[in-house]
Amino acid sequence: MLDETLFSEDDIGQALTRLSGQLTTDYAGCAPVLVTVLRGGFMFLADLMRAVRLPLSVDFLAVSAYGPHAGDLGTVQVLKDLQELIAGRDVIVVEDIIDTGLTLNYLLELLRAGRPNSLSVCTLLDRSVRRIAQIDIEYTGFAIPDVFVVGYGLDYQQRFRELPYIAKVKIESSS
Ligand code: PRP
Repeated sequence: MLDETLFSEDDIGQALTRLSGQLTTDYAGCAPVLVTVLRGGFMFLADLMRAVRLPLSVDFLAVSAYGPHAGDLGTVQVLKDLQELIAGRDVIVVEDIIDTGLTLNYLLELLRAGRPNSLSVCTLLDRSVRRIAQIDIEYTGFAIPDVFVVGYGLDYQQRFRELPYIAKVKIESSS
């Protein structure tokens, strides 16, 4: 099922160095709060925050996947809300992957309602070929084509999140 490696540990390390350097520069003098959407973003968040040279705090959101029906498009249910207020804070949303953008589009609206001082998005992977909702992404690790990937927090049916690298998967049909 696991196919070729798309991004090795070294590749990911280089992306972390680049992104953490940008964040350290761009947010100099600030103490941003990193907001991650469970579950896939946890590994990227953990490595990113160890590399950024700023005072940071973290908070987490958990959402249900948006519904399968057209009328549900873009509506996600918040299963776990932020624990801290973000009014006046510099908020950086840290995602493992952005696909359709529907999850983030919804969450950004929600976060804006909390009146942060600033709001930006940092994603490890951008699979923009599947985009439905247009989103400004300030910090991107890698742009990827329309392939299914696992590892480094990303799963296929809850498997493979533990891999320290990112690989393609071949999804075998049962028929
Ligand atoms: C992934 C990812 C984003 C969302 C992006 O989460 O972490 O939150 O999908 O997809 P979109 O751009 O099409 O909205 P997923 O639903 O796989 O849950 P997980 O993080 O628990 O694996």
